[in-house]
Amino acid sequence: MNILVLGSGAREHSMVHALSRSPSVHQIVACPGNAGMGNTGICRRVPFKDNAELVRFCKDKIELAVVGSSKFVEDGTVDALVLAGIPVIGPAEDAGRIETSKAFAAKFMARQHLPSPRTHIVVNADEIAAAFAADNEIRVVKCDGFSHGSGVVVADSLEEAKAAALKFLKQHGAPLILQERLEGVECSYTILTDGQQWVSFSSCRDYKRAGDGETGPTTGGMGAVSPSPDLTPELDREIIETIVKPVVNGMKADNLLYRGFMSIQLMLTQQGPRVLEFNARLGDPETQSILTRFRGDLAGLLKDCAMGCLSSVGSEVAFGRHAAVSVVIAREGYPESEASDPVVRGVDKVVDSMVFFSNCRKSEDSEDFRFRSGRLISVTAVGETLDEAREKCYKDISRLELARVKYRSDIGLIS
Ligand code: GLY
Repeated sequence: MNILVLGSGAREHSMVHALSRSPSVHQIVACPGNAGMGNTGICRRVPFKDNAELVRFCKDKIELAVVGSSKFVEDGTVDALVLAGIPVIGPAEDAGRIETSKAFAAKFMARQHLPSPRTHIVVNADEIAAAFAADNEIRVVKCDGFSHGSGVVVADSLEEAKAAALKFLKQHGAPLILQERLEGVECSYTILTDGQQWVSFSSCRDYKRAGDGETGPTTGGMGAVSPSPDLTPELDREIIETIVKPVVNGMKADNLLYRGFMSIQLMLTQQGPRVLEFNARLGDPETQSILTRFRGDLAGLLKDCAMGCLSSVGSEVAFGRHAAVSVVIAREGYPESEASDPVVRGVDKVVDSMVFFSNCRKSEDSEDFRFRSGRLISVTAVGETLDEAREKCYKDISRLELARVKYRSDIGLIS
């Protein structure tokens, strides 16, 4: 099988690596990919110009396209590939609104009676005033069309939340989503669905803040462990019954064809799991942890899903009992500044981990990589236990030659 992977991050590098282990895979093409993917022998890269050119390239050549970055959902790439008859893992633009429009997601959650924070959707200053007058627990303000953690304020007071709402209205326009702030631990729960059937694709705890102990600014993600150490078998069952089944059925009821991964961002509260938001894709670095644990024929499973014939329903596929830890090495100053010139060398010295590269190219005058993103590499290790995976991961990080970088030292430490 010839497979196209869409994206250029460490997530897509780990997808290429996991797919390359499937017996049915002949070649993988990464678009646009990155120079770090060169260590996977069967992967080559093509640049992305536009949807029409990508479709021309894929016709009669590519048997499955796997979307990493949601940019390819938003920009209509999935729709263009599907229209050309190419099976795709990734939802069409209309179903992808579950991530790209927070107002759409909030209305969907209400229609399906999903357990979620108390929510108000407002479109002007009068409605903002009325919502705050009626609900003095509003602390979370979200813009409609933003994702990846931007366009969100989690306020400490009602006044701060109200000021953020008025500022967002002026800067970004309506609608805005106003919510109560929930206490608990976050958990990312992933499914793979062909629109009819679904399989659990394990879970993660991700670490969004820049500093140890969940301090500092919010980032794209500084690490992830899989499975989530907080997910008990009882919670798993509750999530399936009260969230996963209504989500899959709700998409069907709304005539939205959703084929691909969906990561459901949950807050595990004292009152039970609550849906914070949906990602119409696998997360980064969550993918690196999840796929490194995966032990089945990924290409075969994804092809079945993209063709609308996922055969197993509900059960978690081929993950076994192993744990994985991914630690992101980011540029010094990330996420506020991406100005530093980082050094990442010695990847060949790593013993027990996989190193997945973010958006980078090879330097013209040395063997070094030049990075285009704030996050540079993800170091990912698997162990019999979370502690073992964590130990292997940090031991391998200590074998790297790193300069002008930052990373958290507490990924996988259970508090
Ligand atoms: N790690 C968060 C994301 O991929 O959106």
